[in-house]
Amino acid sequence: MLVSAKEMLTKAKAGKYAVGQFNINNLEWTKAVLLTAQENNSPVILGVSEGAGKYMAGYKTIVGMVNGMLEELKITVPVALHLDHGSYEGCLKCIEAGFSSIMFDGSHYPIEENIAKTKELVKITAEKGMSLEAEVGSIGGEEDGVVGAGEVADPNECKMIADLGVTMLAAGIGNIHGKYPANWKGLDFDVLAEIQKLTGEMPLVLHGGTGIPEDMIKTAISLGVSKINVNTECQLSFAAATRKYVEAGKDLEGKGFDPRKLLAPGFEAIKATVKEKMELFGSVNKA
Ligand code: 13P
Repeated sequence: MLVSAKEMLTKAKAGKYAVGQFNINNLEWTKAVLLTAQENNSPVILGVSEGAGKYMAGYKTIVGMVNGMLEELKITVPVALHLDHGSYEGCLKCIEAGFSSIMFDGSHYPIEENIAKTKELVKITAEKGMSLEAEVGSIGGEEDGVVGAGEVADPNECKMIADLGVTMLAAGIGNIHGKYPANWKGLDFDVLAEIQKLTGEMPLVLHGGTGIPEDMIKTAISLGVSKINVNTECQLSFAAATRKYVEAGKDLEGKGFDPRKLLAPGFEAIKATVKEKMELFGSVNKA
């Protein structure tokens, strides 16, 4: 059964580790992430952007697929199905479809409007026992059409949103979706420390997990980050393994064109990336 992300993140914050959110794109992705979580006895959050939701034939299709896999693959670790960077309307759709967690990304609104909309969703999600992530200060780069300027969040605004009763809070601290440019200045730990000081127990979320050096990940966790989002890195691993298979001419040998064979190296590559991240984040054996 899908669960809210609240309990897993409260435990992560107290235990000083982070739970990974891995964005899914199709059946292979979903199965790879779920099996890796089970094999490593780790809680996990499946992230679905609005673009990926559309691609996978809608939120109801995804809920059906994930619930089916939890049962058929005998997944017993805690799993949350979470809307990533949702619009207000997208959030309502996912609540209705049976997601267990949503993110409302109101970071592009003036803070008053972000507060007003977040407040309404706090009420609805609380009634349903779902978790809610809010965002202050947009994350840089582009993800499925959501473009952010890469602002550094105002810690006082973070406190205002945290006080509304959200489950977890994403704050821009110089992080970017996708690959980091060579001249990237790194995460702003002074701001993160200030946000953590003002928001106390609130689990903080680090977006743009792809390409952040290990030492920065560890420092971020020590400063209150309890959820880390990874998307691009699984896509890169999948693409590289698939390329290798095709370039080696394997699809031309025997039944190598069979999708179950053609997609197998990419599937294994996603599993390896997810395992590596779970080890780095410290969530192994924390289910
Ligand atoms: P990356 O694609 O950079 O890993 O970011 C993922 C993310 O933050 C999803 O919201």
